[in-house]
Amino acid sequence: MSESQLELCARAIAERLGPESAVVVLTGAGLSAETGLPTFRGAGGLLNAPELLEAFTADLLQRAPRLWWEVFQRLRELLSEVRPSPAHIALSDLEALLRPHLRLVIITQNVDGLHQAAGNRRVLELHGSARRYYCTCCGRAHSFLPEHLVELPPRCACGGVIRPAVVLFGEVTPEEVWQEAYAAAQRASVMLVVGTSLQVEPAASLPAVALYNRALVIEINPETTPLSGAARFSFRAFASHLLPLLVERLRGLLRQKMAS
Ligand code: OAD
Repeated sequence: MSESQLELCARAIAERLGPESAVVVLTGAGLSAETGLPTFRGAGGLLNAPELLEAFTADLLQRAPRLWWEVFQRLRELLSEVRPSPAHIALSDLEALLRPHLRLVIITQNVDGLHQAAGNRRVLELHGSARRYYCTCCGRAHSFLPEHLVELPPRCACGGVIRPAVVLFGEVTPEEVWQEAYAAAQRASVMLVVGTSLQVEPAASLPAVALYNRALVIEINPETTPLSGAARFSFRAFASHLLPLLVERLRGLLRQKMAS
């Protein structure tokens, strides 16, 4: 990444921002990679670890809930240890920077809750959250489950199996959150696409929706993706390196813009 590209990108964003603007950030597993959480694809990805991947299948949860929970507990242990990365913090700083004037919406495929932990307020979780639970029998929400569970699977007072509120393989994105995400992509003046391979629908279509509506689309990913050729700026970079630089530069430009 050259510094001039970063400068050009920050300037292009600043030029796009006006009173009616909306900034949308679409994130994927790569954004959390630097916290120690595995991605799905690529070296070290969950798709190469079939035993962990089982925790993402709806089929196993139904057939063998105890076994499913044994695997899922390993992911819960990981989740209890991770903290937001500099990339998460940069996105929270960006929201704070824009908040008095315009709206920032994060659309994430991640279930780790790290955007909220970093301080972002408007987060659409396309694949749900591994930090919320509900009963598969009566539907009751269980906001808290102790880290160490005496009995697996955990059960509701009604006797039903409790599960996390995540979208598993074999399940679909809830319609309501998808409609909100789609509308946000349509309204976006600027869309940042960070740390996603764009291999999984429907999230993979959102950058095309933004491009169709003439948004300025920027990608940050160490690898190329199907979006790389179409994005106005496509940085081959790690999110925790590039996002803080971009947000800092934008802060300076927006200050100048407001003073003039
Ligand atoms: P993937 O694992 O498919 O892609 C992660 C992307 O992050 C890759 O393109 C990497 O190059 C990139 N990456 C890795 N490290 C990075 C870093 N430090 N900074 C920026 N980018 C980095 O993850 P997703 O695209 O999120 O769905 O996967 C989408 C969905 O696939 C997941 O939500 C999951 C899975 O099916 C469900 O579980 C329902």
